[in-house]
Amino acid sequence: MKDLFDKIYKDKGPLGKWAEQAEGYFVFPKLEGPISNRMRFNGKEVITWSVNDYLGLANHPEVRKVDAEAGAKYGSAYPMGARMMSGHTDLHEQLQKELATFVNKEAAYLLNFGYQGMVSTIDALVSKDDVIVYDVDAHACIIDGVRLHLGQRFTYKHNDMESIEKNLKRAEKVAEKTGGGILLISEGVFGMRGEQGRLKEIVALKKKYTFRLFVDDAHGFGTLGKTGAGAGEEQGVQDDIDVYFATFAKSMASTGAFIAADDEIISYLKYNLRSQMFAKSLQMQLVEGALKRLDMLRTMPELKEKLWENVNALQGGLKKRGFDIGTTQSCVTPVYLKGSIPEAMALVKDLRENYGVFCSIVVYPVIPKGLILLRMIPTASHTMDDINETLEAFSAIRDRLEDGTYKRLSAAVAQAMGE
Ligand SMILES: Cc1ncc(COP(=O)(O)O)c(C=O)c1O
Repeated sequence: MKDLFDKIYKDKGPLGKWAEQAEGYFVFPKLEGPISNRMRFNGKEVITWSVNDYLGLANHPEVRKVDAEAGAKYGSAYPMGARMMSGHTDLHEQLQKELATFVNKEAAYLLNFGYQGMVSTIDALVSKDDVIVYDVDAHACIIDGVRLHLGQRFTYKHNDMESIEKNLKRAEKVAEKTGGGILLISEGVFGMRGEQGRLKEIVALKKKYTFRLFVDDAHGFGTLGKTGAGAGEEQGVQDDIDVYFATFAKSMASTGAFIAADDEIISYLKYNLRSQMFAKSLQMQLVEGALKRLDMLRTMPELKEKLWENVNALQGGLKKRGFDIGTTQSCVTPVYLKGSIPEAMALVKDLRENYGVFCSIVVYPVIPKGLILLRMIPTASHTMDDINETLEAFSAIRDRLEDGTYKRLSAAVAQAMGE
């Protein structure tokens, strides 16, 4: 009989197989120093474009003060136990109320982590007779939530209304037979390419089809909409989102997440979300920290204004220089270049070492072969100098990509990788 670990010794998986070439640099890099527009990487200062600290709250002195005071007051243990058993407090309730009000829903419920919370919410919302319809480019937490589903599921082509409708029709046929309902899941903002989910058009389909809409608005919350309530507010359809999700890990610069919906739905989820029923409650330091951050989202619109000033300067500057930034409709700023994986590695190394610009790099199989995606997250803490230096650097590396410099520099790696 085979040893269970045999396959692990042989194959480290689609990303793990690159560990030798990539670890510590392209993956698991160590960014050091306070979270800000400029941090240290490999002993050098770099302009940081890969931290989802949209509103620049991570290292804001008021936030740091509240985090430190809450840490001193409660330690990291309090409260002990799951919410249902012994981990419930007034402050958890207060934060839920304030979050619900902020996103214009009747009620909200806290989640310890966005990822687990999404998985668990999907699991709790459907039973085997129900059908899930979701975007093929959905975040891993949606895919994993759908994996738990015992009934039928259909993916639709990314943000494609025709495909959405086709799959709603298929779902309807199944649901009519099983006697179940339909859950449609979209993201408010797709985190790789920055497109908003087509929520307005999806909501319009509610006139033709019976389904409930669940939106993961991780990147939209705090960054989109007049008040920062997210992609639903931005598109004028917040009321038609049946279950709204956002994480604290991006614009709130923290850990934790929440779902918001009608009172009756949240009351149900509160008793059926396995990730919350069987896991320790969100620790108090995070709850107090989230109350402070939410207050800043509400009372300091200048943070979002500064964020968008930077987003517009960066995206506008890239477009003016002829870069392909795809179809982003959010702060997420992708830059698409043409090249192989070894060329991408040489290019990113050059960008980091010689131009002091740190951004994330995405290659095949996440995006089609031959494309390099450099993904940037502008924040309110970036300056015009950061943006201008980065634009200059991007023009320089594009020239070097086009004149074959990176092909030459990466020839040995390409050969070793069989590219
Ligand atoms: C779209 C989306 N959903 C969910 C999550 C998970 O949130 P968390 O980091 O709170 O687990 C992320 C990433 O953070 C995300 O980008």
